[in-house]
Amino acid sequence: MSSDSSVPTAPLSLTRVEMQALGDRALAMVIDHFEHIRQERTHDSMPREEAVSLLQTPLAEQPVSPDVLLDTLARHVFPKGFRTDHPRFYAFVPSPTNFVSVVGDLLTSGHNLFAGYWFAASGAAQIELTVLEWLQRACGYGEGAGGIFLSGGSMANLSAIVAAREARLGAHDARAVVYYPDQTHSSVSKALRVLGFSKAQRRMVATTDDFRLDVGALEAAIATDRANGMRPFCVVANAGTTNTGAVDPLHDIADLSEREGLWLHVDGAYGAAAVLHPRGKAALSGLERADSITLDPHKWLFQPYELGCLLVRDARHLHHAFRVSDDDHADYLADVARHTYEDVNFFDRGIQLTRSFKALKLWLSLRTFGLAAFRGAIQVGFDVADFAQQWLEASGQWDIVTPSQMGIVSFRWRGEGLSDAQVDALTARTADRMREDGYATIMSTILRGRPTFRVCPIHWDANVGEMAEALTRLTRFAVEETARA
Ligand SMILES: Cc1ncc(COP(=O)(O)O)c(C=O)c1O
Repeated sequence: MSSDSSVPTAPLSLTRVEMQALGDRALAMVIDHFEHIRQERTHDSMPREEAVSLLQTPLAEQPVSPDVLLDTLARHVFPKGFRTDHPRFYAFVPSPTNFVSVVGDLLTSGHNLFAGYWFAASGAAQIELTVLEWLQRACGYGEGAGGIFLSGGSMANLSAIVAAREARLGAHDARAVVYYPDQTHSSVSKALRVLGFSKAQRRMVATTDDFRLDVGALEAAIATDRANGMRPFCVVANAGTTNTGAVDPLHDIADLSEREGLWLHVDGAYGAAAVLHPRGKAALSGLERADSITLDPHKWLFQPYELGCLLVRDARHLHHAFRVSDDDHADYLADVARHTYEDVNFFDRGIQLTRSFKALKLWLSLRTFGLAAFRGAIQVGFDVADFAQQWLEASGQWDIVTPSQMGIVSFRWRGEGLSDAQVDALTARTADRMREDGYATIMSTILRGRPTFRVCPIHWDANVGEMAEALTRLTRFAVEETARA
């Protein structure tokens, strides 16, 4: 697109001036986003027809000015969705980012290192290993532990089950069974389906009143399966469920897993990062006994998508499950194959061959801000969730379903004089009103069959004043909907 005819250009090249101008404009957009997000709605959307009319274009032969394209993105794309990085986005598990990591992403794609094997990017591999070691140690793992950065929790859970199957069974077995509590994230049962486990091999286990795995029920299920000739080999426990932040009784589950010879995988996609904070560390006692742990930096470690992580107590299990073997006939990797295990080829630890330098942004931000700042950022989530619980209790109009734990509170409209079914319907209408309002995003989930609100205010810039305002609005909408019930 060079307009400077004195500069010879290859088809996709820009001059330095053009690169600078485009980069400056894009960077300014991102800085504006960081500066003004608080003044914006937490979510917005548009109907499909509008999106088609604005964004569906033919792929033109001729160039278009990137300024025009950036305008389109700024007006019709970036504002139209959930602002999961907004300080008042309290739904799901938010993904608050930080500017340093955003710059990290720019550097990652700008340099495009191939972080699949050691001598293709040895410095990058060492940084990934260093960051993995920080996380391993934080989770209580010692010598011999290892891991890999992946796209997110879904990939980490799937990879963990592959490693567990390889370690405990050596091959797929139609009698193999995996156990997980009924509060487990859907990515686990989806991973099992993808890996070829039938419904009879996916054993969902009941939870107790506090939404934590019922260890007695797990023990009974294992005994029944063994009696029926099945092969129990893996338990998935939670270190912070998506619904309520519940942490399963990790020590009891680890004891049982050891007795039964089962692989214990702990899904801490969102919760395990809290191990960097004393309160989280206390709540997560027993995490260190897991054979593998999912921990997503793109959740409570404030990184942009897509950054998940799988940690394994014994790194050799990842290697056994994922190494490129002779059977794979990767002839073009012959020169790589001569290298030693100590070199660490990440393509031997996970599914991907080509992978980006994923840990750069986490390394850059952890080092730039320091661990104390991250601990403080995690503390905000605990504090604002505690405040939300106190506010809801003081209101006298809401029932706390689960108290503040791992930065999540769940609650239901008391609806004096209304039936459960009426409160269910009212919850849905109140959620709609909240979405239309746009000040904050608070959504419902289903707990024990009943629609229930939840908040997960884990943004490092969340505050109690805005939480109070959001809950005030939610209460007003619930009161108005009650009057109509
Ligand atoms: C507990 C838990 N596990 C797994 C996942 C899936 O992670 P991802 O969406 O990064 O694939 C989530 C997502 O919120 C989660 O909360």
